[in-house]
Amino acid sequence: MDIRITPSILNADFDHLDSEINRIAHVSDLIHLDVMDNIFVPNFTFDFSTASEIIQNCPIGIDAHLMVADVDKIAPQYAEFGCASVTIHAEATADIASTLKNIKAQGSRAGLGIKPKTDIDNYAQFIDDVDMFLIMTVEPGFGGQKFMADMMDKVRKTRKLIGTRPIWLQVDGGVSLETIEIAVEAGADTFVAGSAVFKSEDPAKMITALRMRALETVH
Ligand code: DX5
Ligand code: ZN
Repeated sequence: MDIRITPSILNADFDHLDSEINRIAHVSDLIHLDVMDNIFVPNFTFDFSTASEIIQNCPIGIDAHLMVADVDKIAPQYAEFGCASVTIHAEATADIASTLKNIKAQGSRAGLGIKPKTDIDNYAQFIDDVDMFLIMTVEPGFGGQKFMADMMDKVRKTRKLIGTRPIWLQVDGGVSLETIEIAVEAGADTFVAGSAVFKSEDPAKMITALRMRALETVH
């Protein structure tokens, strides 16, 4: 199983984002960009024009996590702008199949995310439209929350659903050296980590440590 670490810059220093990204790009698979609109979640991060600048200046691919209401129209625009991956939330999307297709049509990977209270069963039907499932392990909105270990049943269920398909299974929220192992054991292969990385003394070293811990768990 391949392991991917996609660090979130939500807890990085927003006044110096370029240098924050440059500190970690060489050890990251993609940079996870949390886009929040203060409607779908009670927090705001970037509008499209600010996000576009970050995407344009990023030395590696962006994994855009769109926590915005009525995401159908804006999601393909993120893809068109060059994101490597664009994840929409099932709870915020009017036409999931079409929006996933529209993201892919712009050359980006398409992800489908669900909040902690949302069951994966209702979305199994989109299995052939997605490149990644995102299982939230905190309520979306803020970094630094506690990892919800009770989401591991959902991760296991989603791993079973994926079977041998080359679909990534991402977890986001509270991932750290303490929690990554049980997420790997449950079947996740793609890990967002925000505060664990940016609150550590050496963010790049922490990413490498997370990757090593995950790989040790796989083998
Ligand atoms: C939460 C965001 C996460 C968050 C992760 O809504 O989607 O990506 O930044 O941060 P930590 O790792 O601190 O939970
Ligand atoms: Zn996120």
